[in-house]
Amino acid sequence: MSTIDARENTRRIEQTRLDALKSALERNKLGQFATPPVLALEIAKYAKTLLKGKRGPIRFLDPAIGTGSFFAATLDTFPQKRIAGAAGIEIDSAFAKTAEDIWGPVGLTIINGDFTKQPTPSKAYNLILTNPPYVRHHHLQAEDKVRLQGLVRSTLGIEISGLAGLYCHFLLLSHTWLEEGGLAVWLIPSEFMDVNYGVALKHYLLDKVTLVRIHRFCPSDVQFDDALVSSAVVVFRKTSPPPHHAAEFTFGGSLTSPRQSQTITLDQLMQKAKWTSLPTTVETPNRDDEAKLGDLFSIKRGLATGDNSFFILPVEEAERFGIPQACLRPILPSPRYLTDTIVESSPDGYPKIDRLLGLIDCRLAETEIQSRYPLFWKYLCEGKDKAVHLGYLASRRTPWYSQERRDAAPFLCTYMGRINGTTGKPFRFIWNKSNATAANVYLLLYPKPILRQALAADPGLYHRLFDAMNEIEGGTFISEGRVYGGGLHKVEPAELANLPCGRLATIAGLRIDKPRSLFAFL
Ligand SMILES: C[S@@+](CC[C@H](N)C(=O)[O-])C[C@H]1O[C@@H](n2cnc3c(N)ncnc32)[C@H](O)[C@@H]1O
Repeated sequence: MSTIDARENTRRIEQTRLDALKSALERNKLGQFATPPVLALEIAKYAKTLLKGKRGPIRFLDPAIGTGSFFAATLDTFPQKRIAGAAGIEIDSAFAKTAEDIWGPVGLTIINGDFTKQPTPSKAYNLILTNPPYVRHHHLQAEDKVRLQGLVRSTLGIEISGLAGLYCHFLLLSHTWLEEGGLAVWLIPSEFMDVNYGVALKHYLLDKVTLVRIHRFCPSDVQFDDALVSSAVVVFRKTSPPPHHAAEFTFGGSLTSPRQSQTITLDQLMQKAKWTSLPTTVETPNRDDEAKLGDLFSIKRGLATGDNSFFILPVEEAERFGIPQACLRPILPSPRYLTDTIVESSPDGYPKIDRLLGLIDCRLAETEIQSRYPLFWKYLCEGKDKAVHLGYLASRRTPWYSQERRDAAPFLCTYMGRINGTTGKPFRFIWNKSNATAANVYLLLYPKPILRQALAADPGLYHRLFDAMNEIEGGTFISEGRVYGGGLHKVEPAELANLPCGRLATIAGLRIDKPRSLFAFL
């Protein structure tokens, strides 16, 4: 076994050991997902094909080196004597030390620190191969975001959204580390290709460098680790794009033999809002095997009270009518009054919103109400005068002013709506941290036991799940719901349950198995 192979063996053992020392949450915070060695090698070999005809020395950089899978792959691909310089940056000192111990003796210089805080190197690199940390923006401190946005602005003159993940900053900030004409291959989430926060990256790829290729892995191909299912390999050269330049977009299969491919000029690409629509020949993936929302949640329609105007009333009004707290439950207002999609909770369990509403839900007998709460009794009598108690639903309940049980759900989805011009979606997900229940203008999503367990073990999962719910594309939503005259869309509980949501299951560390059941794999 060559010394390089022996070092790579040690690296793999160390990678497993170091990964095991941390919880999934800790690894998430630093975006610590190692690249499968076979993929790192495929990327290095692909880079070599792009450098064909260029015989000069290689100066390698991985700004998020981890234990050094890309350096190992580079050593496996290029003759060692051609590697004139190599550097890796790593924030985690355990990884940095391991990489240094293994690869230091064969030419890799390790900087143990935050890549985004490093001074520009005196000599730039001509080959960047990397899988940067996939750290979502809510794991970044507010002051860090401002610092990173300022750096991107001063380095490239590009404004980047505060919602951009760390990987976007890494890619943009590496500009000054890459030599003119240098080649960069980035393994990053494909999300930037479609979402608003990705605009800065797309601007960079269209304007500041020459985009060579973007390969997207097919989410239903389980060839790699689940953290990589929606990844893309982005390849560019640091040089201005020649006139009429066309980039290659490939999809599925592997980097070396993609299933589909298309070249597209930058002018055409500029017109495309969603780059994942390329190549246009992409067949609609068969999503039958993907987890469905109904695998993760029990989905129920919100409460049908029988008469919202009588049973639901502003909390101050309820106080005036002498309705005791115990007979009143917090309830969310209709979606049109709920501007935020995250509902925070007050200490008493009521939502922190302007329009505080209570739902009458009382099990006391009429005689007891009459003697103990005369004002409330009067309110009920007024309802009786209007025949509220004879309504279809109220008349089937005992007492008629009690409600069906519908506990507060942590997540809700609006039940109907028109397509929103900004999001392209007719429905909205709500993250409800309060004890408020909701009426049937919402669908309620109650985590199934296995997801409940995952949430209890990792409360940060609520946030990640909610983000992923919001990333479910409009088209997926629309294809599951139904549309009525005037463009009004509705989604029934069974339709929402059928929404493909493999990404949510992955994030929760749950995998579907056939026949449909879920088990934890993290
Ligand atoms: C996705 S992993 C990739 C590791 C390795 N290059 C590989 O491909 O297996 C990202 C690495 O970046 C490191 N990292 C996270 N934040 C960083 C930062 N601000 N500066 C440098 N490294 C960072 C993580 O500790 C992790 O090792």
